[in-house]
Formats: sequence, structure tokens, C-alpha cells
Amino acid sequence: MCGIVGYVGGREATEFLVQGLRRLEYRGYDSAGVATIAPPRGIQVTKSTGRIEHLDRLLAATPSPGSIGIGHTRWATHGPATDENAHPHYGGEGAVAVAHNGVIENYQSLKDRLIAEGYRFRSQTDTEVVAHLIDSQLKRLDPAADIAAVDYQPLFRAVQLALRQLQGTYGLAILFRDYPTVLVAARLGSPLIVGVGQGEHYVASDASPLVGQTDRIVRIMDNEVALMTADKLRVVHRDQGPVRHLVSVLDADSGGAELGGFAHYMLKEIFEQPEAIRNAMRGRLDMDAATTRFGGLNLSPQQLRQAKRLILTGCGTSWHAGLVGKYQIEALARVPVEVEYASELRYSNPPLAGNSLLFAITQSGETADTLAALREIKRKGYPTMAICNVVGSTIAQEADGGIYLHAGPEIGVASTKAFTSQCTVLAMLAIYFGRLHHLGYDAGLRAVEELQELPGKVGRALETGEAVKRIAEKYAQANNFLYLGRQFNFPAALEGALKLKEISYVHAEGYPAAEMKHGPIALVDENTPSVFLIARDSVYDKVMANVQEIKARGGPVIAVVCEGDRRIRSVADDVIEVPATADFLQPIVSIVPLQFLAYYIALARGCDVDKPRNLAKSVTVE
Ligand code: G6P
Repeated sequence: MCGIVGYVGGREATEFLVQGLRRLEYRGYDSAGVATIAPPRGIQVTKSTGRIEHLDRLLAATPSPGSIGIGHTRWATHGPATDENAHPHYGGEGAVAVAHNGVIENYQSLKDRLIAEGYRFRSQTDTEVVAHLIDSQLKRLDPAADIAAVDYQPLFRAVQLALRQLQGTYGLAILFRDYPTVLVAARLGSPLIVGVGQGEHYVASDASPLVGQTDRIVRIMDNEVALMTADKLRVVHRDQGPVRHLVSVLDADSGGAELGGFAHYMLKEIFEQPEAIRNAMRGRLDMDAATTRFGGLNLSPQQLRQAKRLILTGCGTSWHAGLVGKYQIEALARVPVEVEYASELRYSNPPLAGNSLLFAITQSGETADTLAALREIKRKGYPTMAICNVVGSTIAQEADGGIYLHAGPEIGVASTKAFTSQCTVLAMLAIYFGRLHHLGYDAGLRAVEELQELPGKVGRALETGEAVKRIAEKYAQANNFLYLGRQFNFPAALEGALKLKEISYVHAEGYPAAEMKHGPIALVDENTPSVFLIARDSVYDKVMANVQEIKARGGPVIAVVCEGDRRIRSVADDVIEVPATADFLQPIVSIVPLQFLAYYIALARGCDVDKPRNLAKSVTVE
């Protein structure tokens, strides 16, 4: 989703801005732009639809000099992807330039008022309202005053007054034609980080553009406004005055991931899964007590065993991981689990039992709906936990406690290693809660031992890549797929279908294998492959019967089965074998060939795997 960068210092700003925007590409975008100031000329904006390469070419043809600037990648919300709607936007007649992440909910009423005041709008965006609003406040500054001499306080005040009128969310980077050494950043609900360099400051909406520039950062919090020049950084609360900002060290894991010889980030991250799973488990397996342990839950075992209902929430792939978690926790711990879409939970006001405990599952820690659901449940007085990958992200900070995945940066828009790491953490939680309740020592030990073997088994599942590639090429032109599984493997079927949709734009439905009879079976014909996930578990025979139902209707069957399964060979058209593990861990192994299948079908169809159309890595709007 949208990304912001900003720079003020001694170098040519566009060097950092363009490089920073490239680092933010993975978030998904449809247009990009930069603005710089080189006095005496005013603010120069260069922007267009399409990729950063295009913006770079525009800048090569018509350079945008200056040692202060802002940049933006836009993922369209208000108004289609056009050059005019791309950011940065001018305020007034070029007195201000603004790059904005988030959504201004009351933009229409503000726009009507600004038009009545004489402002002329060039775009259909909600952002342009912010730019004009700031300009209208600046116009009220005393033209004779030496703003710099009073620590830019009147400028701060003008921005504060404009921000107070906004409803919605924003991360903002702002330039001022008449104060060409000042860069302002402001945040409400959309992350912003300031990087502190030697005689320079940076702004970015996530850490990745800062990697390699500086490792000293200041996280701007909601309602804070940061004003920076090359040498100075001041932060004020929008309503309460100066804030003492904390300089922290950028986590070494934070970004800057390189392709390392892989064709795409998605492929690289598929292959990183054994290591990511190992990292998720590191220091958390307790063989002596036959259980798992977590350092950051901030609740005692006594408090955790009081939790009589767990609510798992998230979006997209993280929601699928939650569904895997429900099967795992209910099977091992017998604690009831509800899995809620965060976008629904935030408004549904469900009647929760007094001793409920919320886990928000999120790779980025910034998904707007997940954050809102967490805040709502926290506000009601329930303890909240985060299962999160990005260290220091908003959700990680706001939850009462949590568990980091330690999967390393995930750049591919289609989540892979975050999913298997999330499922691994949830499996560990299932063992933990199990051991608090009914799970005996022997069963606990077996479960922990199975976990220990998981990275190796996922590693062996990676060996299916070449075989899956051939299957992908065989079916690449199909326009519909069904993904079917039961019990633990049902959520994995949903996830497999989502992967295919996301990156190859092929319609795919995930379904519980037996439920398929109640509708989706009508889709089955010789051009509609069904991908079955079949484990050697309690429902093996039942799933085999479902396979027969598809074959009886002429549908091709691709089966992901456990090694050594002979029975399937006489029925399925294509068979992919993966190592067998405990039932509660099987989806973590079996999902691997489905990730490959989506990847290779997308390649065969000529799709841009790491930058799928319309999607964003981190969805920071509602
Ligand atoms: C977007 C991404 C998905 C991701 C979802 C939730 O839709 O494209 O890959 O699963 O957001 O993101 P989160 O960061 O909260 O896990």
C-alpha cells in the first residue's frame, strides 16, 4: 500500500527518494512521485502512473534538484490511478507539497469549504484537501515574522490547526516553499519513522528505505508532528505541546532484503521457510517440561489458564493462519477458539465471555483493520496479544503482550514464510495451552519432538519444486481451480487458493472437501482442476471418497499427499508427495507445494509475481 519517503540534508534528495521508493515497491502501488525544493525556484513535483523506473526516467530527462524532498508510492483509494491523482500534491498555488498515506474521511465537507474559499482542485484525491488546508493555515501567519527565529513554532501551529480538522488516518510528509529547509511529518494511524543521520534526516513509512542510510530512528506516534531540518528534529503532540522523542536503534532484521540470486522475493521466501520456522521456535521449546515457552506474553501461567476462550483475528493470509490455529488449539488444548475477520470484528461488537483473550495475527503489524479490532477489544478491557513479524510495529507496540515470528523481512506480496511461521507459533501456543490444561507429559513431549523435526520436513517439501513446476505448466491455462481439504488441511486449502488468486489472477475457491458437494461441485468439468490436500489422518478415507466424487464428474485431480501413499496414484491425475508429520503440523508442510503451484502458474501466465496488480503488502486503509 502507499509508501512515503522524505529527506533533508546535504545530498541531492532524489538519490535517496528514488532508492527509498524502490524499497517500498513491495508494498504495492500504481503511481509514484517526488517533490523537491531548490531555492529560489519553488517546489518541483514530478509524478506519474506506473513503475518507479518510469519516474526515474522522467527525473533523468528533467532533474529535480534540491537537498530537501518527499516521495510517495500511491495505491489508489480516492480517484483512479492517474498522473493527477499521484502524490505529492500541491497546496495553494505551490506553497506546500504533501504526500499522504491513509484516508481522510471528512474530505468532502472540507473540500466544499475550501472550494468556497477559492481553492482550485486538480485531483480527485482526499490528500489534496490536506495540502490546501495547510496552505490556508499558512496564509494566516504573519508575513513579517521570522519563523525560524522562534523555532518554527508558528509553522508547527499552522500544521497542528490543519490536522485538527481532519477525520480519518494519515501519515504525512510536507514541504513548504517559503521554508525550504524544513520537512514536516505527522502521523495518525499510518506509520512513520524518522531516520537520524549526520547532518541529515530521513522520513519513511517503514524501515526498509532507511536500511544502509542510518540505524538511528525515531518512531513517530499517533498525533505527533515532527519538524526537521538537516541538523535538528523537534516533535510535538498535535494537541499537547513538545514531546521528548526517543532515538532507538533500527532492528538489524528490518529490511533491505536482497534477492540473493532468486528470480523473485516470493520464491526466495518460500525457500527461507525452514530457517524462518527454526527462528520462530528458537529458545521456545522446553523439552524438560514437555512444553513451549514465550518471553513476551506478559501474563503468568495462572492468568493464561484462566482464559476460557481465545479470539484469533487477522486479515488475508494471517486470518488463514488463525483458522489453522483454531484446529491446533482446540485439538491439543481443548480451549474454544473463535476466528474472526478483523474487518468484521472491529464493528461486530460480539458478546465475549469475561475471560476471553485476543490474539491479533499480523505479518506487518500495521494492517488497519487488525489494529482497529485490537484497539476495540482492548478498549473493552480484554487482554490483547500480537503474533507479529515486524518488530516495533504499531500492533506489536499496542498489544499487551505478544510473540514475534522472527521470520525476517517478507517482501513478496503473497505471504509465504510469514504464514508457515504464524502456524508454527500457533502450534506452539496449542502445546502451551494444552500443557496448562489436559495434555499429559508424553503427548506434550511427542508434540514438541514433532515440532523439532518440522524445519527438516518443510525443507524436504521444498524438493517438490521442479515436479510442481511441470504440473503448473500443464494446468496453467485453466481458468478455475478448486482447493479442497478437511480438518487441519481445510485452512491450508483456503490459503492455497488465495495464493493462486493473488499472483496469477486465476479464479480459485478453497473449500472443506466434503462441503464441496453443496455448490462448488457444479463447477467441476474437464477444465477445472481440483487440488486436494490429503494427510494420513483420521479423515483420510473420507477425503479419498471426495476425490472419487470429483473424478466421477470428469474433473482433473492434483493431490498433495504424504510420502508413500500408493492408493492415490490410481485415482489422481497428478500426485505430489510431502513428508508426513503430526496432524496439527501437516498444513505447514503441505502448503509448500501449493505455494510453488501458484508461483509457477503465475510465471507461466506471464504475471508479475512480486508486484501483483491491485494488491498491497500492507493494507493500511480500512
Ligand atoms: C494484505 C497482504 C496479505 C496479508 C494481509 C494481512 O492483504 O497482501 O499477504 O496476509 O494483508 O496482512 P498482515 O500484515 O496483517 O499479516
